[in-house]
Order: sequence, then structure tokens, then C-alpha cells
Amino acid sequence: MAHDAVLSPATARRSTALSGTARVPGDKSISHRSFMFGGLASGETRITGLLEGEDVLRTGEAMKAMGARIEKRGEEWIISGVGNGCLLEPEGPLDFGNAGTGSRLTMGLVGTYDMRTTFIGDASLSKRPMGRVLDPLRLMGVQVLESAPGDRMPLTLQGPKHASPIQYRVPMASAQVKSAVLLAALNTPGITTVIEPVMTRDHTEKMLKGFGADLSVETDAAGVRHIHITGQGKLEGQVIAVPGDPSSAAFPLVAALIVPGSDIVIENVLMNPTRTGLILTLQEMGASIELLNPRNAGGEDVADLRVRASDLKGVIVPAERAPSMIDEYPVLAVAAAFAEGETLMLGLEELRVKESDRLAAVARGLEANGVDCTEGAEALSVRGKPGGKGIGGGTVATHLDHRIAMSFLVMGLASEKPVTVDDRNMIATSFPEFMGLMRDLGAEIDPG
Ligand code: S3P
Repeated sequence: MAHDAVLSPATARRSTALSGTARVPGDKSISHRSFMFGGLASGETRITGLLEGEDVLRTGEAMKAMGARIEKRGEEWIISGVGNGCLLEPEGPLDFGNAGTGSRLTMGLVGTYDMRTTFIGDASLSKRPMGRVLDPLRLMGVQVLESAPGDRMPLTLQGPKHASPIQYRVPMASAQVKSAVLLAALNTPGITTVIEPVMTRDHTEKMLKGFGADLSVETDAAGVRHIHITGQGKLEGQVIAVPGDPSSAAFPLVAALIVPGSDIVIENVLMNPTRTGLILTLQEMGASIELLNPRNAGGEDVADLRVRASDLKGVIVPAERAPSMIDEYPVLAVAAAFAEGETLMLGLEELRVKESDRLAAVARGLEANGVDCTEGAEALSVRGKPGGKGIGGGTVATHLDHRIAMSFLVMGLASEKPVTVDDRNMIATSFPEFMGLMRDLGAEIDPG
């Protein structure tokens, strides 16, 4: 599972029309939280549809190291949780590999325990800023005993005897920061309040309530959310069916839009409104995306998506939409490369601190493949080449970033010349089935 050493390239080639039905793996955000909350709650949690990607499995290992029992029986994951407040001190460091969500949420979860926990990760994760999570934790009484310069991993936390509840206004649009504070509050007496000026994905709030946490959300006249959580309550195991990940569905979806003649269905995709910004944007660009059989499953909206190849046109993507499509900009930039005119994406500052500096990685990848673009400090504009004429022929540096790898492989399916990515290994962190699923739809992607 160590990806830092040997690179495994892959190349995508212009493909004939994609067709068929696909099911993408379970949502990564919900899968992480299912393992965490199941491992924490009293009694049994049963999960189907879990994403068995490396990031999520690391979270499972961390929960096991702190006392949870986790096993797979048939199609189901069965967890016996420790009970809220009863996590055990892990014997060794918790290794989160590439996973920002797993590590940041777990820092919150364990930070307020009177124990010592060390966090380590791969080269990409070790470069990412952890201060955004450590700052509110410090206010609750958590000590950072050791860290690499700039509050980076490897780092060691020591929780207080009794944590203090806080009122915390999240300074950037980040569901991970919001969630870390809410999870720290679970082992803190009294009421902790998280103020969220810009709404981000709300899986933590929804799922914690489902597990029995005393949590309420008020939205004030200015649209700012105030999330109140009372600590030290009981959490009870749940039955969870994880819907398909819209951030993974984005890859076959954009592929079908840009490969002429394509017509595919992607089944059982999560349609939580905090996650559907890409679909809205693509529809504004002229994409044919039909929502079939919209339904509610386990408290979340889901639908099947019928996607047909479409002539796209450039649009302006407003900054306020960024939180609802934050992981989808790399593949949106690929769609924009095939659109007529310019697509301007605003409010992208958070892309700089993802698995790679995604704004720079996307811009370099587009340039390497003959696509004209401008990288601003917090914006990207892409001038498209409808039909893919003149696109391709380059090799893209993926910087240990799964979404950069998948996005540029999608690009190669409709470009005039093949597109190579320098490494496909990281794809297993979020979408281990990517190659097989894309090939089954007719995509020409090969190693090398
Ligand atoms: C996630 C939140 C987002 C997103 C990540 C998953 C989550 O990160 O990019 O892939 O599950 O809470 P930020 O909170 O840093 O925006």
C-alpha cells in the first residue's frame, strides 16, 4: 500500500461510443464516517455498499487500533463499537496513507481523549496543512506534542483530562474542519457550537443524528449555520447502506459527455444537494444528464443518471458553488477542454491544499496536452477545443493524486492523441474499480 516508490503509468486513447450501465463504489465521505461512528457507537453497526478503497480501509484499521471490532461477512461489514467515550489508546502510530478525511476527522475524534495518539501518512498527506484542525482542538485543551514544521504530519496529540466545549466559526469552507470539531465535541462535556458561514457537505451532522447524538442545526437570517452538539451522550449502532459516490460517478459521467455517441447509465448515485454542483454546472454547459428514478434511501437522496454525449459550451462557475463540487474541478476542467468557448471557475483556493495542489496540477496537465488555460491564484479558465482536435500527446504528473490521474485518463478518451498519466496506483485510494468499470463501458485505457 506504499505508493511513494514505483510509478505505474497508464494511457487513455480516443474511444468509440461508451455504452452500458455502471455502478460506482460507495461514497467516500459516508464510508469513512460509517467506520468511525460505527466503531465509536455502542452495539453493532452493519454497513453495505462501503467503499473498499485504501483511504477508508485505513480508517477501519485506525478504529480497530482503538478497540473497535470490524469484520466483513459476505457483502456486509459488521462493526462492534466501543461506546462513546471509550476509545482505547492505540499502541502504535495511526497510518492514514493518502487520506486527508480519515486523518483530520480522526484527530477530532481522539483529540479530546486523555491519551497520546500519533498520526502518520504518505508524502502527499505529510505536506497537507493540519493546523486548520489543530487550531480549534487546541482551544478545547488538546496539546500537539510533536509535529513537522507548519503543523504537518507526523504529529502526536495528547488530550486533556477534561476537554472544554467551544463556539467555533469555521474560517474556511471545509467539511473536514467542521467535522473534526463536532467529533471532538462527542467526548467533551456541555454544548459545543460550530458556526458554518458557507455550507459544506453535511454527512457528519446527518449521520451523527442517526446514531443518536444530541445535535441540532439552526440557520440564521444571513444563511449561516449554527450546529450545536451536546457531548458525552450515548451513540447506538446503525444499519447503513452507502450510496454511490458522486465524486467517483463524475469520471464516467464526463467521459460519456465528451466521447461522441455515448449513452450510459450510472446507478444509485448520492444526490445530496451539498454534493451535486458538478451536475448543475454540466447541465448549464448543455450536458444531457437525466435523473432517473429519484428516491430516498437511508435518509439520503439517490438517483440513477442517464448521460448522453453532448456538445458543451463554456460557462462561469460561481465561487459559491465550490463547496458542492470541490473534488470535481479537475474533471470539470477536462469537460471544459472539449467545450466551445471559455469556462471560468472561481473560488478555488481550497484546491491548493488537496491531495496535490490541484489547481496547479490541472493547469500543467492541460498545458501538457495542448489546452489553453490560465491559472489564477484562486481561479482557472479553460479555452476549449470542441471535438478534441489538437488535444493530447502529453504526460501528466499526478503528484500522488487519484483525481488528477482519473481526470486526465478521461481526457484521453476523447482527445485526438493519447494522454498518459505518470501513475495510476493512487486510484485505488478512492476508486479501485475505475479501470475495469471504464473498460466495461468501452474506454480504451491501458497500463504504460
Ligand atoms: C471531505 C471534505 C472535503 C473533500 C474531501 C472529503 C469530507 O474536504 O475535499 O474529499 O468527507 O468531509 P475539505 O473539508 O478539506 O474541503
